Amino acid sequence: MENNYYPFVNTPLPYEYDALEPFIDEKTMHLHHDRHLQTYIDNLNAVLKKHTKLQKLSLERLIKISVRLPKKIQTAVRNNAGGVYNHRFFFEGLTNPAKGEPFGKLAKAIRKYFTDYENFKSEFKKAALSVFGSGYAWLVFGNNQLKIVTTPNQNNPIEQGLCPVLCIDVWEHAYYLKHYNLRADYIDDWFCIIDWDKAEQNLINCIKNKK
Ligand SMILES: [Fe+2]
Repeated sequence: MENNYYPFVNTPLPYEYDALEPFIDEKTMHLHHDRHLQTYIDNLNAVLKKHTKLQKLSLERLIKISVRLPKKIQTAVRNNAGGVYNHRFFFEGLTNPAKGEPFGKLAKAIRKYFTDYENFKSEFKKAALSVFGSGYAWLVFGNNQLKIVTTPNQNNPIEQGLCPVLCIDVWEHAYYLKHYNLRADYIDDWFCIIDWDKAEQNLINCIKNKK
């Protein structure tokens, strides 16, 4: 991830705003990247401006240590560092046209832990639908296995020592303009634009960093 240290800037999307049409609409991408993510960037910079020691920490490190910070700044760092990391990770994990299915190491791991891709899809969708209110569903690597987890708000699995491979943002702002309140339809559309090259690379990095 580029721009991993303070001061954070809103790096551009790796594709055009309308690139994910018809699965995710152009207006949603403008609002999601230019307003929602921008707000997390601004808020994170504002917190770190007052806490110079934290300015030397990477985004991942800020998330990892946030739970140990004094209560007063813990929420601000956790929510805003998470908000920056999670959105970048989500956006960078999408492409159109996409390959349709995982391949390589990830395809093998999915078969090992979820029997086949169709079953994985159904398990992942169930998890993404189960998030009450705002949050994310993730495919993560941890303790030498692949698993699906969910996080509320802008919390992130790296807080628990898990390494993200894939994520879907299920905050309503991610889909409400196009899919209204139909999160299930948005999840189905999201499956069509997963960047499996990126997910494969994420898994390879997760395995490498464990050693
Ligand atoms: Fe979001």
